[in-house]
Amino acid sequence: MTSTKKATMTFTDGTPSVEFPIYEGTVGPDVIDIRKLYGQTGKFTFDPGFMSTAACDSKITYIDGDKGELLYRGYPIEQLATNCDYLETCYLLLNGELPNRAQQKDFEYRVTHHTMVHEQMTRFFQGFRRDAHPMAVLVGCVGALSAFYHDSLDINNAEHRHISAIRLIAKMPTLVAMAYKYTVGQPFMYPRNDLSYSGNLMRMMFGTPCEEYKVNEVLERALDRILILHADHEQNASTSTVRLAGSSGANPFACIAAGIATLWGPAHGGANEACLQMLDEIQRNGGVEKIGDFIAKVKDKNSGVKLMGFGHRVYKNYDPRAKLMRETCYEVLGELGLHDDPLFKLSMKLEQIALEDDYFVSRKLYPNVDFYSGIVQKALGIPTSMFTCIFALARTVGWIAQWNEMISDPEQKIGRPRQLFVGATRRDVKAIDLR
Ligand code: SDX
Repeated sequence: MTSTKKATMTFTDGTPSVEFPIYEGTVGPDVIDIRKLYGQTGKFTFDPGFMSTAACDSKITYIDGDKGELLYRGYPIEQLATNCDYLETCYLLLNGELPNRAQQKDFEYRVTHHTMVHEQMTRFFQGFRRDAHPMAVLVGCVGALSAFYHDSLDINNAEHRHISAIRLIAKMPTLVAMAYKYTVGQPFMYPRNDLSYSGNLMRMMFGTPCEEYKVNEVLERALDRILILHADHEQNASTSTVRLAGSSGANPFACIAAGIATLWGPAHGGANEACLQMLDEIQRNGGVEKIGDFIAKVKDKNSGVKLMGFGHRVYKNYDPRAKLMRETCYEVLGELGLHDDPLFKLSMKLEQIALEDDYFVSRKLYPNVDFYSGIVQKALGIPTSMFTCIFALARTVGWIAQWNEMISDPEQKIGRPRQLFVGATRRDVKAIDLR
């Protein structure tokens, strides 16, 4: 990276001032390279939550939180969601360019022919209770995949990294569908090579061996768009976890399992499940008429209640994915004759109130990707407990692309943050009778 600008840090404690290079990206905020700070001053920076910290340089995804803009390899999410399918988007995130027709065909063929999992994987499921949360099952099974591919775990071998990427993208729908089938006590459905990526997911989740499953093309397209909207999102919590896990040299399956575990949290990918639970609770407690009572609880800091699906660390404007998700929601509900879906009407009323209420406006809290995704997934027949599994499925390509970018960086080092220690200084152990 080249530097034309510099930052000078001066100290009031007699520490000599230090100069740091400032780097400019192709777009977005500059960064101050403070890697020499500790060596030159004996001081660390302090930034819990990484509010002002760039942990890496990347070419994959750019977010302009003020404009509400999201670009995958420079392409606006609106254009990708309208003109491409999920596998095209996967190719773009992994390779940096959209595929031509031959590349698209080859990539689709490779992914399609890796959708089956090792037959012994089915035994892992037997160990779970039927009421296990599907995310617990998914974390376990994805981590276990590394036990089946000893032949391609050399992360320094580009071909091994590529085949692991294909295997993970291909097998996530199969594992997600198996996690669902296990909870409902139905037999696992094998993938079909004559179906699209999203069509396969729908059939493996909702089909049974008893009859042919016909994929509804409107719903198939809607699900494919949901996957595109969730595919990557810069250095969010789960992606940062995957990068940190990968920086130790862990295999890609273990790193993706770590990403899935992080995504599970309600502040992150678990928000769509939490959002639908919130809408259900408002509906149970009086619906639209009682929204004011709920909003009052949200504003009361002591309640600990948040408006799930609202707010974002980066977006201080409308999350562009939320707009596209709302359109998709409208299409799906229309296709299914559910325009009067009470939860959809409730969510639009909640959005309207929040966007006019100064508590939310002053904090720049807008709907995020999770606000409508729960409603549209529920309309598609996906149970609430599966929402974050679908999110993990979609984000797998983003995690792999970011992991691959990190591993391929010759300057890559193991991530090892430091701390401000505020605990007990050195002291001696006393015999137990003297404590
Ligand atoms: C995802 O990082 C990514 O890119 C994530 C993601 C991705 O694609 O990977 O976009 C996916 O995780 C989307 C976010 C889903 N989470 C939710 O919808 C959960 C509800 N949202 C909040 O938990 C919160 O907004 C976060 C976690 C998303 C962001 O938290 P920040 O950036 O740490 O902001 P904050 O908590 O400091 O909030 C600032 C203020 C605070 O009030 P004050 O202390 O200033 O008085 O806004 C308030 C917060 O209390 N606030 C909310 C709120 N979100 C923030 N108040 C009510 N409801 C909310 N949802």
